[in-house]
Formats: sequence, C-alpha cells, structure tokens
Amino acid sequence: MTSQYRVNYHLRAHKRDSLIEFIKGMLLTPFVLHSQPTNAQTHVTENAQRFSEIFSSIEHLIQEHRSFTRQGIPTYSRLAKLVPSIGTFFTPLPLQQAFERVNAQDKISARKHVPPSFNDVRRILNMAQAMAIAPQLKLVTFDGDMTLYADGQNFEEDHGLTALLISLLRRGINVAIVTAAGYGDDAKRYEHRLSGLLAGFGKARLEAEEAARFFVLGGECNFLFRTVIQQGNRYGLEYVSDAEYSASGLRSWTDSQVQQLLDVAETELRDCVERMAISAEILRKPRAVGLVPQAQLTREQLDECALSSQLALLKYQGSPKSQPCDVPIPFCAFNGGNDCWVDIGNKLIGVRILQDMLDSPPEATLHVGDQFLSTGNDLSTRTACCTCWIINPEETERILTELEKMF
Ligand code: IMP
Ligand code: MG
Repeated sequence: MTSQYRVNYHLRAHKRDSLIEFIKGMLLTPFVLHSQPTNAQTHVTENAQRFSEIFSSIEHLIQEHRSFTRQGIPTYSRLAKLVPSIGTFFTPLPLQQAFERVNAQDKISARKHVPPSFNDVRRILNMAQAMAIAPQLKLVTFDGDMTLYADGQNFEEDHGLTALLISLLRRGINVAIVTAAGYGDDAKRYEHRLSGLLAGFGKARLEAEEAARFFVLGGECNFLFRTVIQQGNRYGLEYVSDAEYSASGLRSWTDSQVQQLLDVAETELRDCVERMAISAEILRKPRAVGLVPQAQLTREQLDECALSSQLALLKYQGSPKSQPCDVPIPFCAFNGGNDCWVDIGNKLIGVRILQDMLDSPPEATLHVGDQFLSTGNDLSTRTACCTCWIINPEETERILTELEKMF
C-alpha cells in the first residue's frame, strides 16, 4: 500500500464494507473487458455466465474459510488473506444460485454502462443468506428505525410487513425488534411506536401462543418486553424484569460505572457540538446519551460525532486497539441517520440474550438491519448471528417475501 492509499483507506474505512468491495472488484474485471458486445442477447447471457462463475468461486472461498474457522485457524483461509477483516459465516452462502435469482429480477447482466454495484452485491448476499437460513430459522431480530419504519416514525396500520411478520410467528419462528430506542420499562411508549403492528395482531386474531413469540428489546439490550393479550382482545407489551431472564455475564455493569462512562461520552459529544458549531441538544438518559440536532446535520458531521465518542470511550477504558464490543463495559456509539447516540450495551448483547432465552444458535438466528458500517449500531450483531443488510422498510418487505417462498 502506498502511504497515500493507506491514508485514503483509513479515511474511508467507516464508509466501506470490505467483503462487498472485494466482490464488486471481482465483478468489475469481466464487465470492463467485455463492455463492447456485438450482439445484445449474447452480451446478456455471456455476462450472466461470467458473473455466475465469479459468485461460484466466492462461494467456494467462503466454504474454505468456514472450514478453517471450524479448525480454529480462520486467518489461514484464502479469503482472510484477500479480505483481512472478514468475520464468521455461520451458514454456507449459495451465492451462485442467489445471483441467478436476483439477476432474473433485476437484470444486472443486461447493463452495458453501469457495473454491478455495492447495492447489487448487498442484495445478492441477502438473498443467499435467506436461502441458507430458511430451513432452520428459529429467531429473526429486526432493527426498528429504517428497517420496519422510517426514522422516528411509528409502525403504520395495514403495512405490508404486518402479514409477513404474522406469518413468521405462525410458523413457530420467534420474532423480536432489537432497537436502540430506549424508553426504560415504559411499555406504553413502545406500544405507541408499534401500534399498527399490535393492531394487526388483533385483526389476525393471533393465538396467545403465537403472540408470545414476539418480543421487543429496547435500548440495544437493556429493556425487554413480551407480548400479551389484554382485555378486549387488545395486544400489548409487558415489561420483563431483569430477574426473569438470564443476562448473566452479558450485562454485568454497575450504575456508577455506567454514569462515569456516560460522562465521558457526554463531554465528547459536547466537544463535537462546539468544534463543529452544531446547534443541538444533548439528551442524557439512564443508559444513554444522545446528540439531537435542531437542524439536519450532514452524514460527515454525524460520523465525526460517532467516531469521536467511540475513540474517547475506548481510550477511557484503556484499550485503544479493541472494538466497542471487547472493552469491559461494551457500548455502542453510532450515527442514527439524523442523530448520534452512545448507548450502554449493544445489539450483540441484545441478540445473545434472545438466543439464550429462545435456544436459537447463530446458524438459526437472522438479524435484519440498516446500520452495518462501523458507525452503525447493527454491525455488532455479526458476531452473534447471520445478518441481512437492508436500506429501507421496502427492502425488508422484499427479503421477507423471498424468505416466504423458501420455507
Ligand atoms: P434503531 O434503528 O431501531 O436501532 O433506532 C435508532 C434510533 O432510535 C436513533 O437514531 C434515535 O433516533 C432513536 N433513539 C431513541 N432513544 C434512543 C436511545 O436511548 N438510544 C439510542 N437511540 C435512541
Ligand atoms: Mg436502524
């Protein structure tokens, strides 16, 4: 790496996903070399064949990486050499078949001027993950904002997602919303945001046993609720006290440790406000501190706030090299799209609590979310389970519709 390249790489790392970039790069070569076809139909089929072969090769690289991971030496795989930050694949990924399925819909290989993009590759990975996990799926966790509803909005009644979520519950699959939104043990606040979905449960006359498979975990991993049928066939949420489930070893922090950590985060966020002359309110909650701007901030400003607070908290905990999940008190400092928050705990812990409670291993658990960059709050779940990276509720609907066809 030349030093300039290295500088650029570090400056952009928070905007990139290295596996997707690697796959995109592989697909670019045939696209560039064969971009001047003589016959339109030949171009489509030949391109499809070349892309399909590349996906087949990457599928094999992933298989090999899984095999090295099982032997406890993942860094020996060819994929780890090509993409050093590669993580764990809990299932194989049938990428060739997934490409063919997505290509049949989106006609990626028919394009002459626009090569396979980040979003194309992301959707193919999602399709492959859905195909691999469908037969053994036990638990699906969803992020809230931008995954099930628009930022800060509520789950609307008669949303297309309602029937899809109900179908999962009726199949015996557990469904949970794992959201950063932290309102303590106040079930009413969560019921309000999910009112459309809960009304949908009522309309569908969900059995008590089916409704009991639906959970909400707020504040990343801090406040758990289950669904109960209340008087008048009304479906509501009930707070599950910490004593009722085991988070042992996962959430072992004291209130005084939490407050000290939040003090550091608050100081850093206030510094960001001053440095960048941002007009914003700093909100302090029992297990979170947030920067809520008065006017829309740019992505760069919010990323700066998230990265500054990440670094300040890593330094404070004495481990500049580690990740927000590896420090004594795990936290999550993230760009929420329109705000920036630092939460105590993270979705990795949230997913693990649910996996323990519902006896769902990583290869049977799927997290669907929109924030998988290093400044996002869904990224941490990759250590605990399989994931689908969507960018809006329409894509969540699309991938769940595909999943339905695979059961
Ligand atoms: P998620 O996408 O469902 O995880 O929700 C993230 C959004 O929840 C943030 O961008 C905030 O707007 C909102 N939010 C509300 N309360 C909190 C909190 O206590 N911590 C973090 N985010 C919060
Ligand atoms: Mg989100």
